[in-house]
Amino acid sequence: MREHWQDCGKCASHVAQARALDYMGAMIKPIVIHPDPRLKKLCADVPDLNDDLRALARDMVDTMYDAPGIGLAAPQIGVLSRLIVMDCNKDEDAAPDPIIMFNPQILASSDDLNTYEEGCLSIPDQFAPVTRPAEVRVGWIDMNGNPQERDFDGLWATCVQHEVDHLNGKLFIDYLGPMKRQMITRKMQKYKREQARG
Ligand code: NI
Repeated sequence: MREHWQDCGKCASHVAQARALDYMGAMIKPIVIHPDPRLKKLCADVPDLNDDLRALARDMVDTMYDAPGIGLAAPQIGVLSRLIVMDCNKDEDAAPDPIIMFNPQILASSDDLNTYEEGCLSIPDQFAPVTRPAEVRVGWIDMNGNPQERDFDGLWATCVQHEVDHLNGKLFIDYLGPMKRQMITRKMQKYKREQARG
């Protein structure tokens, strides 16, 4: 995650490309920064899809590319619904191909584990290694309202687990020891005070 968020040069062009394709009209939303009670809530299942929810998903894709990030969950823009978007594709020349998941569910997890240096758009500039199952099977509802199921590994597996955690009010720093977690939280409180002062 660190390598992508810190070094990715594709995201700016993805915003432009995505807008030129079918994300016209999508809006970049402000990202909720930890600590914030909205990041600690259990999010509600999305009922039947409608145009408002599809527009929300497009806004999230735009917000993710703009940040830039490789994943974003609805509570990170203050919406407490089970919706995540991701694009972990590292090919800079590839057209943007985000995955949008309504009501994502981890259906199965491998015994094999993988450790990634994780970050989060809601915890800017803070990174720490987190160990998670290396492969997961995920089920979700797509933009057309159709059920999907797919296996993910590598960065995708880490990302989808990180994003589903957000829907359950869990952050990657919750995997760290209390000292490290408190240190990061204090840094974020300071960051927010500085942002508020302008
Ligand atoms: Ni995150």
